[in-house]
Amino acid sequence: MAAQTETKPTLLEVKGLKKYFPIRKGMFRRVVGQVRAVDDVSFSIIEGETLGLVGESGCGKTTTARCIIRAMDPTEGQILFRKRDNEVVDIASLNERHIRPLRNDIQMIFQDPYASLNPRMNVQDIIGEALKIIGGMHNREERNARVAELLQLVGLRPEYMQRFPHAFSGGQRQRIVIARALALNPRLVVADEPVSALDVSVQAQVLNLMLKLQDELHLTYLFVAHDLSVVKHICDRVIVMYVGQIVELAPTEALYATPKHPYTAALMSTVPVADPRRRGAMTPLEGDVPSPANPPSGCYFHPRCPHAVDKCTREQPQLQEGAPGHLVRCHRAAELKLDGIGKAS
Ligand SMILES: Nc1ncnc2c1ncn2[C@@H]1O[C@H](COP(=O)(O)OP(=O)(O)O)[C@@H](O)[C@H]1O
Ligand SMILES: [Mg+2]
Repeated sequence: MAAQTETKPTLLEVKGLKKYFPIRKGMFRRVVGQVRAVDDVSFSIIEGETLGLVGESGCGKTTTARCIIRAMDPTEGQILFRKRDNEVVDIASLNERHIRPLRNDIQMIFQDPYASLNPRMNVQDIIGEALKIIGGMHNREERNARVAELLQLVGLRPEYMQRFPHAFSGGQRQRIVIARALALNPRLVVADEPVSALDVSVQAQVLNLMLKLQDELHLTYLFVAHDLSVVKHICDRVIVMYVGQIVELAPTEALYATPKHPYTAALMSTVPVADPRRRGAMTPLEGDVPSPANPPSGCYFHPRCPHAVDKCTREQPQLQEGAPGHLVRCHRAAELKLDGIGKAS
């Protein structure tokens, strides 16, 4: 976790990001609606910090992440990235030729380490390919030396270079994925649920590795997770997303001690806590995330919210500052006293 993030400059600023997927029907594929997967999302990532992005499955986390790396084109909005020379560019509007040089700077780690490694290539070629194609490193010896160095960096033996992905465990594969992501010295790493597919016993090892690498290589992380237990230990600030929108954004400590949105508090009830008295006081999260193609009226969370009043069914709340640096989208944020899991673990 990075200290003194407040003195550091902004690395990435997302402004009014929208990603709508058209819904088409009939013989003429007429557009009959829109899946508003990401709907007016704004936030910034400070250099050296780990920013968490959490929410249940279907809330728009992956779509947000994929827009940032421009794996998909945003429908609207800006994604401002500060390059090494301090020039700020808008990733959302760059053409492919201008995006390419940024591919070294921004890397993504995906959830499934089984799907993200080509089974027909050995580790040397998997990592070497990135060095050659994107990094322009054409000398084979030089590339292999760099691969060996990267494997050591992620805690794998350089001799493993000749092996194919099937010879590795899930945790080892994710280490290879991380090594590949680091091959070109990125500044921002977008990690989309990087430990969700791993055994619980292995999760902590990979998280610790990511923390160590952040420290050594001065990395900035956008860390996507579907539950709050993972982000608690590694994030400086956390964004909570619900149906394509930010419902809460706060420094990690404040979020866990005094959550201000009932959705955040409900997500916390799914985090295992040691103290049974606290467990009893919490309302579990019931029902499903509504479809972003057809969200509820008013506050999107009102059908599942134990605190909803009449206004919540009619008016959509705006994202507002409930405390310094603590944003919340809830009509009742000021009056509710929600239980956190602050220092419980
Ligand atoms: N290519 C697509 N076409 C249509 N809908 C999509 C597409 N990709 C994602 N969605 C929808 O957008 C919403 C957000 O998805 P996603 O960003 O994957 O959420 P998360 O990562 O939080 O689980 C979901 O309702 C999903 O079904
Ligand atoms: Mg996802």
